Amino acid sequence: MEANFWHDMWANGVVGFHQSDINAYLKNHWSKLELNGDENVLVPLCGKSLDMIWLAQQGHSVLGVELSQKALDEFLAENKLTAEPVALANHCGYKLPDMTLLCGDFFHLTAADCSDINVVFDRAAIVALPPEMRQDYVKHLHSILSRGAQYLLVAMEYDQSKMQGPPFSVSESEIRTLFEPFATVTKVEEFSFSRKGVNTIEKVYLIKS
Ligand SMILES: C[S@@+](CC[C@H](N)C(=O)[O-])C[C@H]1O[C@@H](n2cnc3c(N)ncnc32)[C@H](O)[C@@H]1O
Repeated sequence: MEANFWHDMWANGVVGFHQSDINAYLKNHWSKLELNGDENVLVPLCGKSLDMIWLAQQGHSVLGVELSQKALDEFLAENKLTAEPVALANHCGYKLPDMTLLCGDFFHLTAADCSDINVVFDRAAIVALPPEMRQDYVKHLHSILSRGAQYLLVAMEYDQSKMQGPPFSVSESEIRTLFEPFATVTKVEEFSFSRKGVNTIEKVYLIKS
C-alpha cells in the first residue's frame, strides 16, 4: 500500500485494526520464545498498539516503527506517556525510558538501528502488506536483524476473492516460503471465525532464525 493510504486512514480515524486490549496471542505465546526477559523487541508497523506497553511491562525494551506521526502522538496521549523527541538518520520519533517510537518507513530501518534487537512481534504488520511487499518485508527483516532473532507472528487466511485487503490473506505456505530459507517456523495456534461473513483462520507462528 502507498504511504498515503495509511496516512488517510489515520487522518480519518479509520483504525478498526487497533485493539483496545492486549493481543491475546501475545500474552498466551510470548513465553514460548527462548527469552531471558531483557530482550529488545521490534514492533514493525506498530500503529498505537497497546501490545508495546505490555512488552515493556515484561521488562523488554521496545522499538516501534510507524509511518504515521498521528498514530504515535495518539499512543502517547491515550496512554498518558511523556517522551523526548529523537532524530535518527531516516526517522524522527520519541524516546521513553523503555521504548523508542520511530516515525517513518519500516523499509528505511537499518541494521545499525536494530543492532540490539533480538525479537520481533508482528501483529497486523505482514498482513497489512500486499503480496509483493511481503517478500520485501521479510527480506528486509532478515537483512537488518542478527542471526538468532526470534519472531512471534500472527497472520490470517481467508478467500481473498471474497474480500479485499488489508488485512490481506497470508497463508501458512506463504509464511513458510518466506521464512524457512533462514528460520524454523512452528505454528502454535489456529483459530477460525467469521469476519464480515467470510470464514477466516488466524494462525500464530513462532519463528527462530
Ligand atoms: C494494520 S495496522 C496495524 C498496527 C499495529 N500493528 C496493531 O496491531 O494495531 C498497520 C500499520 O502499519 C503502518 N504502516 C504501513 N506501512 C508502513 C511502513 N512501510 N512503515 C511503517 N509503518 C507502516 C500503518 O500506518 C498502520 O498503522
